[in-house]
Amino acid sequence: MRIGLFDSGIGGLTVLAQLVKYTPEAEYFYVADTLNAPFGTKTQDQVLTISLKVISFLQKLGVDCVVTACNTADSSIRSARIDLQIPYFGILDFEIPEDMKKAAVIATKFTAESGVYSRILRSKGVEEVIEIPCQSFVKIVEEDLINSPMADEEIENCMSTIRNTDISNLILGCTHFPFLADRIKAHFPKLTLFDPAQSVAKKVSQKFVKTNDNQGKVNFYVTKDPSGFLAKIVKYQSLFSLPFTVQQIDLEDSQR
Ligand code: DGL
Repeated sequence: MRIGLFDSGIGGLTVLAQLVKYTPEAEYFYVADTLNAPFGTKTQDQVLTISLKVISFLQKLGVDCVVTACNTADSSIRSARIDLQIPYFGILDFEIPEDMKKAAVIATKFTAESGVYSRILRSKGVEEVIEIPCQSFVKIVEEDLINSPMADEEIENCMSTIRNTDISNLILGCTHFPFLADRIKAHFPKLTLFDPAQSVAKKVSQKFVKTNDNQGKVNFYVTKDPSGFLAKIVKYQSLFSLPFTVQQIDLEDSQR
């Protein structure tokens, strides 16, 4: 089975980690569109255009399905209601525990402002939702500042509104944010953190018949700075523990 996935950078690794847990035998094709990163500060049109180019690249590689390992991209695709002509899973196809009645969501500027989480969570029976933009967390993760004073300051600055509520569930609405889970927990020990990737990865594994003919492997495709990306992959390799390659691609060329 060939699974395509994409993000603006290393955020999708947190989704890949969950996918590999359920479907270790698959061959993964992961596009990190580092040239267009970050996605979260862009407009609907910009994010959609980028996403469709990446999906078309993955389709040409012959993947069996596409997993959008990026809330921002999935949110733009959902708003556009496009039929992608390939089995498609978005990070927003998550399930929540039945007893979740109140939730805070931290996400990119784009995702938080789109209100997509409020709509989805309310349709699943959640009565109170607050969506908080935490765009600076993306840079903190990409630039390996997770254990820096800047991370502590930004967590306090961005998430302080949660302190005035009785909300105990925190949804990590950006795939970069699970990297910050321990730091967030240190500041907000009473919050239960929820990563949508787990239930999405389960859905992907249930959709396809297991085969033994594939050997787990990850092919990374990067649109800028492959060596910088490789260094990050090496650091987080234990998240997916499969052999991998990294190559640079030009998404414009691939559309021709
Ligand atoms: N990891 C992405 C998300 O889940 C996008 C982060 C960014 O590029 O702003 O939204």
